[in-house]
Formats: sequence, structure tokens, C-alpha cells
Amino acid sequence: MNFLNEVAIRHPHAISFAAGRPIDEHFDAADVHRWLDVYLKHEGIPASALFQYGPTKGIIAEPVARHLRADEGIEIDPAAVLVTVGAQEAIHLVLRALRRDDRDAVLAVAPTYVGFTGAALTMDLPVFDVRDGDDGIDLDDLAETVRRVRHLGLRPRACYVMPDFANPSGRSMDVPVRHRLLEAAAEHDLLLIEDNPYGFFGPRRPSLKALDHDRRVIYVGTFAKTVLPGARVGYVVADQRVHAADGSVSLFADELAKLKSVVTVNTSPLAQAVIGGRLIEADHRLREANAGPAAEYRRNLDRMLAGLERRFSEPRFGGRVTWTAPEGGFFLVVDVPCVVDDDLLELAARDYGVLFTPMSYFLRGGRAVSQLRLSFSRILPEEMETGLDRLAALVADRQLP
Ligand SMILES: Cc1ncc(COP(=O)(O)O)c(C=O)c1O
Repeated sequence: MNFLNEVAIRHPHAISFAAGRPIDEHFDAADVHRWLDVYLKHEGIPASALFQYGPTKGIIAEPVARHLRADEGIEIDPAAVLVTVGAQEAIHLVLRALRRDDRDAVLAVAPTYVGFTGAALTMDLPVFDVRDGDDGIDLDDLAETVRRVRHLGLRPRACYVMPDFANPSGRSMDVPVRHRLLEAAAEHDLLLIEDNPYGFFGPRRPSLKALDHDRRVIYVGTFAKTVLPGARVGYVVADQRVHAADGSVSLFADELAKLKSVVTVNTSPLAQAVIGGRLIEADHRLREANAGPAAEYRRNLDRMLAGLERRFSEPRFGGRVTWTAPEGGFFLVVDVPCVVDDDLLELAARDYGVLFTPMSYFLRGGRAVSQLRLSFSRILPEEMETGLDRLAALVADRQLP
């Protein structure tokens, strides 16, 4: 990812299908001031109450729990919510808490989000791949991987999944698969880490956490795509019970808070108040509040699918370029008849003026494959057309015989 950022900086005029960001035009400074005021008024506190350090678990667990009930059908005690510096900190804390010693390991549906594998790498926590297949997770491979990990003398602690419009694949799990995954998790005594940044941007299905009656699911959420990425506010729902050696019982959220207290101390109260105000103003219904942006992302997705079809069905590609057709989210994956590595990325930016993310970034070991991820969330229609023309020219010139 560093290389991608460097290339983007070196070639600022390249059209980028790389970054998975929300549309900037939806941000307005006046909203931020208003949301802050809404929060302060609702809480009956002066702004100065936000100027100090705050409680480690955060100050907006209550509105977050209401939002989860309204939007996701997740019934949760606010005590099980820990507010974090984005979903990224939540992932990091969860992995750190699951790693007791070097016999612990985690599983992840591959290809997977680099922020997950990157976090695991920083703490020497091994990650084992589970195939995604057409269902979003191959449950036979999950069983087989658990068996293999145990055979190695390791403890498979959890499997990381993105059931809705996954990053990078764009794939979603249908409802029966979600039920079967929960059953498999119980059977293999595994936790599931459900990461759901894109769930509001496509057809609604129940989250795993909404279907979880067994406290199997640790749910990671973020306001980066639904409110403001710059606020850096996310959260984790961790209602699992932790039994200590002295017989005391705590919530996993409290164990995560202990770790957070020595990582980021607390999430900025000012940033939380902005998000809290947004939630209160929207009556905690962020799905509804995001209907406009969601429709725009959908239009972009349709435009991109049509644009790919128009260009890559040409005889010169011989049907060798294919792509996934997600129902929503920010990303899709294209298979191309050439190896997609950093050299190709550099060449694409320099000579063709187009940027994408090589799929190798989402595979452990970073082995180059002939796939790339395209993000369609933030790109203007004319830019998309020009960018796809450039991508088609690159693939036509570089395709292997
Ligand atoms: C799957 C996934 N999880 C987590 C994150 C990180 O979210 P945040 O910006 O809240 O840290 C992202 C960001 O793009 C993501 O795609």
C-alpha cells in the first residue's frame, strides 16, 4: 500500500480507481458544527466538557447501541460497546486481546483487507487463509483450515469475515450461508470477527451479529464511510464473557478497553461528539441518512459494470478479461491477461495515467496475480470513462499472447 501511495503522489494527474473513499462533496463544515451543537444540547453539557481526556470506552456507546438496534436489528447493552479510533484500532485491539501467546492463530477469508493482515503481522499472530468461493466463504475449507491449524499445535481463535460487499472482492454472503457460518463457528469453537464498513451501500441482509444468539460474533463498525472518515471514529461490540483466574467475569469490551488505555487512551471526545450529534439528528438511522450517497455509489457501480462490458467485450481481448459484479459496496475485482505487480502499477500511472490496486496487496505473502481491484465510490462519471479507456489501452498493450 505504501508503494501505491508513493505512485499516486508521483503521478498526481493519474485517474485513480485505487482509494476506497466516500464522496468528498457530501462533506460540509456547517454539518460538523451543527452535529456538535446537537450533541451538546442533547447531553446538556458545555463544549468545554469535551476539551479534557475522556473515558476509555468512549462517550457515545448509548447512541451507537441505538443505531445498531435501528439499523441492524442488533440488540446490545451499551456496556458491550467500545468506541475506537476507526475500525482499524478496533481490529488491532481485538487481535491483540486474542493473542495470549505464540500458540494462537487467526483465520481470514482470502483475499482480505490489508488492515487486518497488517495488524496481525505487527503482533506476530499467524493468519491462515480460508477460501471465499462463490458464497463469500467456503465452509468446507473453513473446517479443513481449523483442522490443519490444530494439527500444527496452534489454537484457531477467530475467523475474520466481511459478509457485506467485502473489501476487496465485493462479495456478499447470502442469509443461509450466514446461518451456516454461525453453526460452523459453534461447531469449531471459533469466534467470528465481523467487519462491516460497507453494509449500508447495497441490499440489506441481517448482519451475523443480528443472528448471533451465542455471543460468537465480535462486531466491528465504523463511521468512516457513513459520516466522516476524518473523524476517525469506529467501535467494536464485544459482549463475550471473559472468566478470570480469580473467578471474576468481565465483558470482552472491558478487556479491550484495558488495552486501548495504553494504545490511544481514549477516542477524541470532540470527534465522538460530532458523530454522536449526527446519530441523534438522524434519529440513529444512518441507513436512511445515507440513502443519497448509497444511490450515487450504486449509479457508479452500474456505470462501471457497463463501462467494463463495453470495453472488454471487444474481440481484441478474446473474452480474457472478466470481473466480479457485486450488488453494492465500493469495490470490484478484474481478472486481466497479464501479471499485475508494482512494475505494472508504475507503468500504468506514468504512461497511461490510471491507478488501481494490485490484488497481491490483499493476499498473504504479496504474490503477484493477474487481478486488480477497482474502486468506484468516489469517481466522477467523465473521469470513470477516461480511466476505463486508459485501463483498456494498458491491458491491450500488456496482455500476454
Ligand atoms: C474492510 C475494512 N475494514 C476496516 C477499515 C478501516 O476503517 P476505519 O477508517 O474506520 O479505520 C476499512 C477502510 O477502508 C475497510 O475497508
